[in-house]
Amino acid sequence: PNILLLGAPGAGKGTQSRRLTESFGVEHVTTGDALRENKGMDISHLDLEYATPGEYMDAGELVPDPVVNEIVKTALQEADGYVLDGYPRNESQTEYLDSITDLDVVLYLDVGDEELVRRLTGRRVCEDCGATYHVDFDPPEEEGVCDECGGDLYQREDDTEETARERINVYEENTEPVVEYFREKGVLVEVDGEQAPDDVWADVKDAVEANA
Ligand code: AP5
Ligand code: ZN
Repeated sequence: PNILLLGAPGAGKGTQSRRLTESFGVEHVTTGDALRENKGMDISHLDLEYATPGEYMDAGELVPDPVVNEIVKTALQEADGYVLDGYPRNESQTEYLDSITDLDVVLYLDVGDEELVRRLTGRRVCEDCGATYHVDFDPPEEEGVCDECGGDLYQREDDTEETARERINVYEENTEPVVEYFREKGVLVEVDGEQAPDDVWADVKDAVEANA
């Protein structure tokens, strides 16, 4: 199936995407990871405010559409079934997505602001396999070490409280209209994202099975 996963920064998109890839054999397409791998890419020829994606990301701002649209187009063309996470983030990206693919399920993980900030500032990520932990909600067995692969855990540069709040503001301004767009279309499946990860997963799995 082609799955779109919407939700604010820290709502649990990465966490649920990992389970979706394992259970449904779909490709995880995430603009955040793709951009982190290309933080230093030279985009000065586009004549924008900054010369690299990383400068936008560290400010909590959106990376410009031409850069992101190209990444998504290539990734979706290569995937036989996907979960798309972190895209679209504004109306222009939504129109672009509509023009290049067909969606089977659109999920929205609903989580309140203060919970988002707690999740983002406590998040730790494995530098080798990308597994995600939380210092309080989902700590690894040994502090700073990945349970799955033994890799070192690090904190993302944009998970400081200040940048996290800026990302949530940018989300509310630019991406809430995207959620509204799919809600009005009548295709949005809303999931209570404040539940424990296993309970969120139960709802996500049901929704995909019902719509795929
Ligand atoms: P991106 O990487 O997409 O980040 P994001 O959307 O801000 O989402 P996150 O990865 O931060 O959160 P998540 O929902 O995946 O949460 P997670 O599962 O880890 O984007 C980063 C930047 O790239 C953007 O700011 C922008 O600059 C740029 N960018 C990306 N896409 C773009 C686009 N399309 N256009 C323009 N620019 C773009 O969970 C968070 C934490 O909570 C973890 O610690 C986890 O363990 C914990 N947790 C998860 N679920 C639960 C639960 N149910 N209960 C308790 N804790 C939980
Ligand atoms: Zn790991």
